[in-house]
Amino acid sequence: FYPEFVKIVEVGPRDGLQNEKEIVPTGVKIQLIDMLSGTGLSVIEATSFVSSKWVPQMADHTDVLRGIQRAPHVRYPVLTPNLQGFQDAVAAGATEVAVFGSASETFSKKNINCSIDESMLRFEEVINTAKERQIPVRGYVSCALGCPHEGDIKPSTVAKVAKRLYEMGCYEISLADTIGVGTPGSMLKMLQGVKKEVPINALAVHCHDTYGQALPNILTALQMGVCVVDSAVAGLGGCPYAQGSSGNVSTEDVLYMLHGMGIETGVNLPKVIEAGYFICNALCRNTNSKVAQAKSRT
Ligand code: HMG
Ligand code: MG
Repeated sequence: FYPEFVKIVEVGPRDGLQNEKEIVPTGVKIQLIDMLSGTGLSVIEATSFVSSKWVPQMADHTDVLRGIQRAPHVRYPVLTPNLQGFQDAVAAGATEVAVFGSASETFSKKNINCSIDESMLRFEEVINTAKERQIPVRGYVSCALGCPHEGDIKPSTVAKVAKRLYEMGCYEISLADTIGVGTPGSMLKMLQGVKKEVPINALAVHCHDTYGQALPNILTALQMGVCVVDSAVAGLGGCPYAQGSSGNVSTEDVLYMLHGMGIETGVNLPKVIEAGYFICNALCRNTNSKVAQAKSRT
């Protein structure tokens, strides 16, 4: 059986746009977030407070965060890899942040330039400072179903990193299939490992759709009791430090599946499709959402 309600974490404005080669105008990012704010989504990851040398596309983080019209029931978390990012984020008005770790040493080094152990020290600083200000912190575990450099990652390794983040104080741990290589088989084994260490209601899944496995993987996670799903409008995205990774599963397709199963999300699918058309138009590209493609033909 399945949960009655699933919370969608929209990551399009961050994960979706961070990998775009052409710098997307700040006004377009703001308009996208404002459109998404009117869809019923309760969480929209807005931007990243990372080094602009590493990810130039997120250099306008402060202007984006200050420019959006915050809807009362929507939260707008931002990525913060270290204390500097956290302080910049808070100065720009962030009220929720996310730290992002990895279950692969090689990926950790390539993505945030430090080992897993070092990253945990940095995240601890962020989390402790956030606690003083009552700012909730979400935690990511990248490469939960495989690493572009190390290949398969053991469920026990994922569980260990997830547990550390949870015990430090992350309220939710998002298990990420960074390069989209997982299948329902590996998703099942990974979650069986992680749920021994972290309560299932504190877990989310974050699936990139490189191999077309994201929806079955999400369905598997729902069967295991996960009720938080990350997705990106129009299936935008990819990680700049994970070669060959394609976009996140599209929010439209996840909503279509969940609503078809009678699972509530509180999100209006036609409005998300509209936001998807807007951003695809602005980026001069086709949507990666099958549902949006199908609707545009009817
Ligand atoms: P570093 O070079 O090791 O940092 O970068 P450092 O501490 O040695 O400092 C070097 C310079 O960077 C200094 O400036 C710092 O001030 C500056 P300088 O003195 O040379 O002028 N710096 C910063 N600037 C802005 N914001 C900061 C910051 N920190 C230091 N927060 C760092 C370390 C983590 C900053 C860098 O590696 C970085 O920015 N990485 C970003 C990686 C990233 O954004 N990846 C994509 C997001 S993760 C993802 O997509 C995966 C996810 O979706 C889940 C999944 O699918 O797997 C979440
Ligand atoms: Mg991602």
